[in-house]
Amino acid sequence: MKGIILAGGAGSRLYPLTLVASKQLQPVYDKPMIYHPLTTLIEGGICEICLISTPHDLPRFQQLLGDGSRMGISIEYREQAKPEGIAQAFLIAESFIGDDAVSLILGDNIFYGNNGFDEAFAEFTSGATVFGYHVHDPERYGVVEFDAAGKAISIEEKPKQPKSHFAVPGLYIYDNEVVTIAKNLKPSARGELEITAVNVEYLKRGQLRVEKLSRGFAWLDAGTSSSLHEASAYVQTIESRTGIKIGCPEEAAFRSGFLNISELEAIAESMPNCEYRAYLEEVVKEANRTQ
Ligand code: TTP
Repeated sequence: MKGIILAGGAGSRLYPLTLVASKQLQPVYDKPMIYHPLTTLIEGGICEICLISTPHDLPRFQQLLGDGSRMGISIEYREQAKPEGIAQAFLIAESFIGDDAVSLILGDNIFYGNNGFDEAFAEFTSGATVFGYHVHDPERYGVVEFDAAGKAISIEEKPKQPKSHFAVPGLYIYDNEVVTIAKNLKPSARGELEITAVNVEYLKRGQLRVEKLSRGFAWLDAGTSSSLHEASAYVQTIESRTGIKIGCPEEAAFRSGFLNISELEAIAESMPNCEYRAYLEEVVKEANRTQ
């Protein structure tokens, strides 16, 4: 399965921070935001990744992540000239997707917890898999309604009167049909190719699975100053309590088997003396101890 990280957009709610660096490059406590979705894909066993951003911001992402080989993965880059909708990602990345299934993750979505993603990636064969997460303000998101048996029966984008409290987070898994579906979409009233319209099409075809994410699992989106601050505080709290970093792509690449222990060690050694380096050295030490 291929992976796409969509990291463009206007970031207008974070102005003036986003005058100098895009939203997904902003720090979430101790790392750039983009490390989180990247880590989620790598933890899911995905090693072929395409990052989409604005022509203005793309060079910064390339500077940060390179071609991915340092982490044992590959990263390609594509431009989205204007923020014309999340589903446009499948048109921009068509040649990257080729004949494969694809997972799309939004660059400002942060997931943490023992979750069903690994299984969802591993067991995926066809159709679409998205997730449902209980939130207090569903009207800000795509909202999924379930019947008594727990089957998804409707999905609506930013409804004024939400039919449930379950929002669809920014991680979606699709078969190759998604490219054709995206090609046939018409822009919505706000001029965007809507990801919810893609999900509705799979629902109509009877091919949409919606898996509820468990209580205790964290989904944060960091699109406003307060949510960015909350995300940072959350990451700091968990990291200082557990001593385990959230959103560390090098560690994820090691645990997914994309890097061996000496490669991970070499990455740590190439870093200046900092907490991040010390953490990776600790991961190496721990792995050596338990091998
Ligand atoms: P949003 O948070 O909805 O939009 P935004 O990032 O442009 O922010 P603002 O509303 O403050 O102007 O986007 C969700 C994510 O999807 C975010 O990571 C940006 C990304 N995105 C794109 O890359 N291209 C797009 O066309 C859209 C609509 C979103």
